[in-house]
Amino acid sequence: MSRLPNASAAGAGSQALPKPPIIAPSILSADFARLPEALSIADPALDWVHCDVMDNHFVPNLTFGPLIVGAVRRMTRAFLDVHLMIERPERLVDAFREAGADQITVHLEACENPAVVLDRVRSSGARVGLAIKPRTSFPAAEKFLEALDLLLVMTVEPGFGGQDFMPDMMPKVFEARQWRAEHDGSFLIGVDGGIAGDTARVARAAGADVFVAGHAVYGAGDSAAALAELRQVVK
Ligand code: DX5
Ligand code: ZN
Repeated sequence: MSRLPNASAAGAGSQALPKPPIIAPSILSADFARLPEALSIADPALDWVHCDVMDNHFVPNLTFGPLIVGAVRRMTRAFLDVHLMIERPERLVDAFREAGADQITVHLEACENPAVVLDRVRSSGARVGLAIKPRTSFPAAEKFLEALDLLLVMTVEPGFGGQDFMPDMMPKVFEARQWRAEHDGSFLIGVDGGIAGDTARVARAAGADVFVAGHAVYGAGDSAAALAELRQVVK
């Protein structure tokens, strides 16, 4: 039996941690001129809010930094899941934590010394996430799993919303689930990229607990209904 985290294991994060399966609407696809409305659909008891930070270096796209994460923090009580697609993320860990991140996910490929960076996130008081790009294998992440609250398996090349889900990433999700069961692990397994009703079902069957969804939620005419539908699919 794996020990999945619960609210009491949420560490110093200010927000309660919903029980998995969890949908994490990604504001990357939201209308930033109407962010309060976009954020209002996330239920703090059920969902995370996913913030994609990009630096035009680790990925080609450029998004936002701690200033906007701080504004998001003031607009929602939901758990803030901050996904850093930036080089040398250790330089900004404290700034994002101070802005209100409940969890900070760094990319394995962006860290010179991943163990040190993960430790830095832990000491900041945030929950600790590690993301792996499509070409990074599960074994590459294996030695860090015990330090994690979240392993985020990218199901698209990071950088942009609205891309097609890569089903060939599912063996990694399955491997992570097996590893967790065998080692009595406690990290959650997330998928990020191209998640909609059909692909969420596939990822759920492979063993994912957290489903990041941008376009499927904010590209829908009724975002609240799209989110509610995804919650049902993974239930
Ligand atoms: C991609 C980002 C994702 C993105 C997902 O690099 O990490 O979180 O918002 O968007 P969709 O769900 O549209 O693929
Ligand atoms: Zn993301």
